[in-house]
Amino acid sequence: MSKQSIIIDTDPGQDDALAILLALANGDALDVLGITAVCGNISVKGTAANALKVLALAGREDVPVFLGAPAPLVGALVTADVLHGEAITAGWDLPLSKASPRAEFAADWIIDTLLSRPAGTVTICALGPLTNIALAFAKRPEIADRLRALVMMAGASQGGNMNAVAEFNVFVDPHAAARVFASPVRKVVASLDVTQKLLATERDLGRLMAIPNRIASQVSGLLRLYEAYAKAGSPRPLHDPAVIAWLLAPEMFSGKDVNVEIETAPGRTYGQTIVDVNAVTGRATNAHWLTDADREGFYRLLESGLTRI
Ligand code: BDR
Ligand code: CA
Repeated sequence: MSKQSIIIDTDPGQDDALAILLALANGDALDVLGITAVCGNISVKGTAANALKVLALAGREDVPVFLGAPAPLVGALVTADVLHGEAITAGWDLPLSKASPRAEFAADWIIDTLLSRPAGTVTICALGPLTNIALAFAKRPEIADRLRALVMMAGASQGGNMNAVAEFNVFVDPHAAARVFASPVRKVVASLDVTQKLLATERDLGRLMAIPNRIASQVSGLLRLYEAYAKAGSPRPLHDPAVIAWLLAPEMFSGKDVNVEIETAPGRTYGQTIVDVNAVTGRATNAHWLTDADREGFYRLLESGLTRI
């Protein structure tokens, strides 16, 4: 497999942090050009600071971090305090970083990177609300054609985690998601449909926390929250690493090409990804929607990544 150049757009976030580490651990396959922070799980200043901490942990402060959107395109920011609140992520067992975010705005850096590199060579991994990407597409629509792919954790077709139908990343900024899904870029979507199949059990977490190296033991702080949920009988999924896992081992996933529209009207279905699973709308397919994953393979990939990093 030739090395893929990726941009990670993210709102760390416990699962985002693991996704970043998984990408860095696989430097033979993935070249992380930069990390663009977006508001979501917490404020954008918080997500950028956390991205820097993760890079410090991995000894990779050479990877540039850019501050992105502080708020969604429309309305006020909704965060995910229960699992990723500032009070929780401030307590991560991670080293403080001496680096700072770069001066350029995230969406502008995405544009510059895509315009300066050969077309079809850069993939964006979107692990948070799609605000930065929508802003970049709005400013320079032609960059959509220059992307190799946009692989994202977004949406749900079988039940949401913010209302009955909406998933967090889309719910936080459905207007951005609508713009992104309307763009011609090749999209691969790891929605809740597939990440719910990657629930972190006590056994999985125990194996990750037992890896005998410094990085894995520092990451244990992130995993203890998930362990508490698993011990209480309601294990949670590790959503965002699924995006990186798909890049590394797409054969571990199955899915289908579908049309996806985004509900932006206020109300009970705000933020829904309306997935035409049965192809009844006559609308052209605009995304590859992952539907299943090899759970054991996914945790093996994480384990080997954290062992090697
Ligand atoms: C998504 O929401 C966030 O809280 C997680 O980091 C993940 O990206 C799951 O709905
Ligand atoms: Ca995230």
